[in-house]
Amino acid sequence: MSDTVLLIGGGGREHAIARALAESTERETFEFYACAGNRNPGIAALTDGFETLDETDVDAVVDYAESIDATLAVVGPEAPLAAGVVDALEDAGVYAFGPRQADARIETDKSFQREFMAEHDIPGCPDYAVFEEMEAACEYIDEYDGDLAVKPAGLTGGKGVRVTGDQITKAEAKEYLRESDYEKVVLEERLVGEEFTVQALVAGDDVLITPAVQDHKRAYEGDEGPNTGGMGSYTDASFQLPFMTELDSFEALEILKETVAALDDFRGVLYGQFMLTADGIRVVEFNARFGDPEAMNVLPVLDTDFYDVVAAARDGDRLPALDFADRATVCKYAVPEGYPTDPKSGTRIEVDEESAAAAAGDRDGEALLFYASVDERDDGLYTTTSRSFAVVGVADTIAEAEAIAEDALAVAGEGFHVRHDIGTEALVQSRIDHVSELRGE
Ligand code: AMP
Ligand code: GLY
Repeated sequence: MSDTVLLIGGGGREHAIARALAESTERETFEFYACAGNRNPGIAALTDGFETLDETDVDAVVDYAESIDATLAVVGPEAPLAAGVVDALEDAGVYAFGPRQADARIETDKSFQREFMAEHDIPGCPDYAVFEEMEAACEYIDEYDGDLAVKPAGLTGGKGVRVTGDQITKAEAKEYLRESDYEKVVLEERLVGEEFTVQALVAGDDVLITPAVQDHKRAYEGDEGPNTGGMGSYTDASFQLPFMTELDSFEALEILKETVAALDDFRGVLYGQFMLTADGIRVVEFNARFGDPEAMNVLPVLDTDFYDVVAAARDGDRLPALDFADRATVCKYAVPEGYPTDPKSGTRIEVDEESAAAAAGDRDGEALLFYASVDERDDGLYTTTSRSFAVVGVADTIAEAEAIAEDALAVAGEGFHVRHDIGTEALVQSRIDHVSELRGE
């Protein structure tokens, strides 16, 4: 029987997943549908049908899956995982590549995440404490000798964390907690170093890693300004970033493997956010899905058929070994002016897809365009309050990939904010220098 695949989610990450599925050598053999809260024109163009629905509305997702006779689902974002979409699809007889609600807690509940690491002796856990009373948390801040990361336990779209000594003072951290309506917060030792992401595809005993990525969370160039969902990211042509050693990747893999072994029956993507510190690798957090933007870096260089991976996971087979092209990638998001604090929605987006794709022609690389949160109206595309679209340059070196991404942005459209420093030689070199300094070299 041939498959009917349903992709859930409508952001840049899901456009990258859709592209990976649509490029399957077996695409002719399966039907392909998608559903999301926003109509993503990139995904709509790659699928046989696209339904706009609230992707956290479990019944709506299951009804849609049943209406198309879905046999296999892929869940992109964390919100449907937290809502229990995987469990509900499973109850309806549809396998979903993504963790069940209980396993997704590794991302969706940051206090569970830390307690789980401590209980199972998973290496890389910083000192932490969990509070349900904000006044008690404030006292802890006063007494703690050093800087802290203040993290609401629930999902905040990557925007809830505040780090003292970096973004705010301890007094501001206390004010932040007192003014919040958080029910639970985690306070943890501030980790200092360089961050990197390693995403693993997981099913059964298989934990297969993809190349390390560095995301850029701060809104403005030079890592200034508020945290965002991620402004852009890069990979090198190998599994490591230029500031990492093979041992760093190996340690990250070991941590992911130990975490999967301790979880019940995790499947889907386990995303480790790591900090390379003077004392070795620490875990900043785990996510239970691909990163956005990080999916747009690793999926375009994955030579293995992604449909084969998810179909093998569903069938209980060993996952195929993952092959990656030895190419670097640089992803840059175009976001509405004012994002994330005061984003200007309703700006007309005029993306010249063909020119953007042609931008790489002279540079021996490829330029890819991924739509994220755009509002498709009768007369065209408009910005929402979230990230609009991303361009990805793929080439032999980070510098070439960066130049391709910039060329593509130059022709893609105007009126957006972009972090032009992502992937530049100067910024990458500053990361290398930072790690050398931490390692006392
Ligand atoms: P999260 O929502 O957990 O990804 O946190 C968002 C960002 O906050 C991370 O990417 C880090 O830059 C920062 N962060 C989180 N935890 C810590 C920590 N313990 N020390 C330093 N920075 C942190
Ligand atoms: N890039 C950060 C995230 O997806 O959580």
